[in-house]
This record gives sequence, C-alpha cells and structure tokens, in this order.
Amino acid sequence: MNIRMATPDDLQGMQACNLSNLPENYNLKYYMYHIVTWPRLSYVAEDHKGRIVGYILGKMEEEPKDGDGPHGHVTSISVLRTYRRLGLAKRLMVQAQEAMADSYGAEYVSLHVRKSNRAAIGLYRDTLGFQVSEVEKAYYADGEDAYGMRLVLRPSD
Ligand code: ACO
Repeated sequence: MNIRMATPDDLQGMQACNLSNLPENYNLKYYMYHIVTWPRLSYVAEDHKGRIVGYILGKMEEEPKDGDGPHGHVTSISVLRTYRRLGLAKRLMVQAQEAMADSYGAEYVSLHVRKSNRAAIGLYRDTLGFQVSEVEKAYYADGEDAYGMRLVLRPSD
C-alpha cells in the first residue's frame, strides 16, 4: 500500500472514503482549502490500482490561543474497513506529524475524537503517545463528548 501526499485530484476519493467511514463530513471546498493551504499536511493511502483506501486531512491551527505556540491539527483520518489493522492510519499520522514539525514548526499536534471511539483512541494514545488534554462536552452534532488530545512534536533529524 502506497502513502503519498494528497493532490486536488484526490478530493473525491478522499470524500468518498470519509463518507463511508465517519458521520463528520465536509464539502469539497473544505478538503481543497486544506490541500491548497497546507499541501504537506494531507496524505492518501492507495491500493495497487490507485484507489484511495485511507486519508488524513491535516492543517495548522490558524488562531492559536494567547501564549500557545504553532501547532498542527488533524481534521480527519479514516481507513476503509477492509484495509484496517494494517498500520495505514499509523503511517498517515506519522507522515503528517513529521511535516507539521519540519515544514511548519509545529510544537504539538491536536485532534478531537469521540469518547466511544475505541479504535481511534487506541491508535492515538497507545500507538502514537497522545494524551487527553480536555473533555469537550457535547462536541459532536449528536451530543457525544469529545476528548481533545495532544502529542508534543520534535523536528526529525
Ligand atoms: N481496536 C483497538 N485498537 C486499535 C483498533 C481497534 N479496532 N484499530 C487500531 N487500533 C490501534 C492499535 O493499537 C493498532 O496497533 P496494532 O494493530 O499493532 O494493535 C494501532 O491503532 C494502529 O492501527 P492501524 O492499523 O494503523 O489503524 P487503521 O489503519 O486500522 O485505522 C482508524 C484506524 C483510522 C481509527 C480506523 O479504525 C477508522 O478508519 N475508523 C473509522 C473512522 C474513524 O474513527 N476515524 C477517526 C476519527 S477521529 C479524527 O478523525 C481526528
């Protein structure tokens, strides 16, 4: 499975992947905004036929709170069901995290995840070392709480 930087040609494949995996969906303009503004922070995983089977949509936080350094944010990540547990999400996360630190000077990366999302919390906390920074009550449209999670980043050598 190949991981590469996302391009505008990938928008529809990324959106299709998102629609089949998550209730949090976005219009194509929002994908395009990410890819054009932070071209190194979004990646796709493709199968041997070039079909998109996973993606990560990343960005830099545009309005950091006072006293907060530059940091990246994972807007969305997902992998099609039949391609899970192959390490694709981990690879997508690591690529985006490295680019956040190396290309944009991000000091840390943040994200939100549903409290009930066992798979994603396993990925973030157990595999990648994220920690819960806050609980955001009723963050999602259906009223579920989110964990705000963070991982400190260091530029790679
Ligand atoms: N249960 C427990 N831990 C899991 C699970 C699971 N079902 N899936 C992954 N993990 C953890 C494990 O520690 C795993 O390591 P291991 O396989 O060596 O045990 C580690 O994460 C790495 O797994 P990957 O194979 O890299 O993860 P995968 O490619 O399967 O993708 C993902 C994980 C993205 C969460 C996938 O299950 C998915 O697409 N789910 C639906 C969409 C979703 O929930 N996206 C995240 C929403 S939050 C956000 O977008 C910021």
